[in-house]
Amino acid sequence: MDMTVSRVDPGFEKDVMRCFQEQSYAIPARWLYDRQGSELFEQITELPEYYPTRTETSLLERYSAEVGEMSGTDRAVVEFGSGSSTKTPHLLSATHPAAYVPIDISGEFLAASAAQLQTQFPELPIYPLEADFMRRINLPSEVANMPKLGFFPGSTIGNMIARTSVDLLRFMRETLGTGSQLLIGFDRIKDTDTLVAAYDDSAGVTAQFSLNLLHRINREMAGTIPVDQFRHIAIWNDLYARIEIYLEVQADVHFTIGDNQFDIDKGQKVHIENSHKYGLRDARLMLRAGGWSPVREWSDERDYFSLILAEAHPFKNAP
Ligand code: AVJ
Repeated sequence: MDMTVSRVDPGFEKDVMRCFQEQSYAIPARWLYDRQGSELFEQITELPEYYPTRTETSLLERYSAEVGEMSGTDRAVVEFGSGSSTKTPHLLSATHPAAYVPIDISGEFLAASAAQLQTQFPELPIYPLEADFMRRINLPSEVANMPKLGFFPGSTIGNMIARTSVDLLRFMRETLGTGSQLLIGFDRIKDTDTLVAAYDDSAGVTAQFSLNLLHRINREMAGTIPVDQFRHIAIWNDLYARIEIYLEVQADVHFTIGDNQFDIDKGQKVHIENSHKYGLRDARLMLRAGGWSPVREWSDERDYFSLILAEAHPFKNAP
């Protein structure tokens, strides 16, 4: 038997079956990031149309020193979903933290990027942690008594609906503790053409990134999905202030996943991703709903992207 078939994540299998068997025609975006997906996402961050990464990186280059002034040098930086940690050096060199804890669900990336950062910051204690940050996490004992600065860049929060975002912010507060700070990136609402182009680039890399999800099902679950019959679509949903990404089937199709047979009619759309965008007030309200008080914010000239520094103040009775 093919080894890759037996290694399928049970959570992935369950979500795929719910999509096609229970006909929800939706799959959570987190499954886009297998090895190939993560590589394709790295390519997306370099596309001319995909402004978020370069805008946020330049904000970090420009303003990390100010973050450092606000947070001091005694904190442990805790990064949620660190991935390849490409934005972290700017923050680390400006804030001189006491320790760095990269958290990621994929141990593969984690070890390599921690080792890479260690050569860049030989004095910095680094404690990589393989964990799902959608739950409360026990941080390494070495940082237990240090004040924390959480780091959640990339507008990753935008992949979540509001309820899940607030849950996550509350978990982060529990993980980091009262008195901690959080530096978080929010992608801003802007003109529709710019938004849609960022998720439907002319080179077709984002389409490849989306379609890789179907390839992943075929690879890991012995599927026969005719991937070339599906088309990547990105639309702006103004009511929900989000980009929605779908895979639309271009003809009636029949395929199998393991022993299960499926028929899908032409025109059916499978919803695979949301990318929420925020007004500044939306972002602040979201943070406060999760127990975080915004204390400073930085944006680029065009207001394409914002970094917000928030604090977990002690809860007190408020009128
Ligand atoms: C990693 C969630 C921030 O929503 O912009 C990019 C993912 N998907 N292009 C985003 C993504 C398609 C990205 N995030």
